[in-house]
Amino acid sequence: MSKKKTIVVLYNVDYTPEQGDYAARADVEKTAHAVAAAIAASDDYSSALVAATGRQLDFIERIQMLKPASVFNLCETLDAGAGNEVFVPALLDLLRIPYTGNGVLAVSTALRKDRTKRLLESLGISTPRAKTYTSVPKAKPEFGFPAILKPNAEDGSLGISSTSVVHDLAQFKRQAKELFRTYKQPVLCEQYVEGREIIVPLLEDGVGDFEALPWSEIDFSHMPKALPRIVTYAGKWEPSSDEYRGSTTRINPTVKPALKKKIADTARGAFVALECKGYARVDMRISQAGEPYVIDVNPNCDLSPHGGFFRSCKKAGMSYADMVMKLVTLSLRTRAR
Ligand SMILES: Nc1ncnc2c1ncn2[C@@H]1O[C@H](COP(=O)(O)OP(=O)(O)O)[C@@H](O)[C@H]1O
Ligand SMILES: [Mg+2]
Repeated sequence: MSKKKTIVVLYNVDYTPEQGDYAARADVEKTAHAVAAAIAASDDYSSALVAATGRQLDFIERIQMLKPASVFNLCETLDAGAGNEVFVPALLDLLRIPYTGNGVLAVSTALRKDRTKRLLESLGISTPRAKTYTSVPKAKPEFGFPAILKPNAEDGSLGISSTSVVHDLAQFKRQAKELFRTYKQPVLCEQYVEGREIIVPLLEDGVGDFEALPWSEIDFSHMPKALPRIVTYAGKWEPSSDEYRGSTTRINPTVKPALKKKIADTARGAFVALECKGYARVDMRISQAGEPYVIDVNPNCDLSPHGGFFRSCKKAGMSYADMVMKLVTLSLRTRAR
């Protein structure tokens, strides 16, 4: 009889094709299958896929019945709400079942862009100036224009479009109104940083440091002149769009040594500040003056076989299975959540 221990691969199925953000959400199922296959091919573990559907909590019972050594947590949402992502690590903590990636604290902090920024600022980690609005603004922000508007508690470029960068009060009001109407949550208005966009993937190495993973840069050189050089929803998820063709990813960008150190320190600082565990991705923009600014921290970032995080692992010589098993091994270490 097999002595393989079980790893549950948990993912969310709480979206429908009618949803506007279906493309961003449905990718997780494919990732779950890829992760499960990688685990099943290992000598020591077997995998069991468990789907968390709707607002049912029966996935918890199924996990308990499987008595897993660990849960590979791919849940990005529950019951179609990004804010519910945090219930998964919380429930697994309660059940004392180890799981991959980030705990309650990091996941919930990162979900609120304004809180993340306040935390980073308090530790001297650069992030663009910003103000959070709960109603349509009457005046320009004190840091002026251009500014970029985002829903305060979404990710995956939801709510980011070619009209997100605003240059005057009329555009600012119009875009804020549109975001309130669609997302029904506060709007973050952030100073727009013109410059390079560098993405730093971080994977703990299990001995107090990180794996040396190559970074990526978004190449906006093919972006039509009339469109802002940002990663919009279409740019991230709609391959037929001009924005997609205008925001490709380049791995291992050339960066001068002094800036390299600043970027690395800033990214690690952000990981530690949020008390991230296992893996995360830190998105940065580099100002014209050569200063890196954290614009986004993504604990439990996308691990799909065609996604940016794995692309960096692959460039560092890892197979998909190597990456998956590193995360499983990390999850089995005892740690305070
Ligand atoms: N302050 C900023 N300055 C310049 N571009 C920005 C700024 N904030 C966001 N962007 C652009 O918008 C994209 C999405 O913003 P981000 O904060 O990363 O949201 P999400 O959590 O949806 O990924 C970024 O990848 C970047 O291209
Ligand atoms: Mg981002």
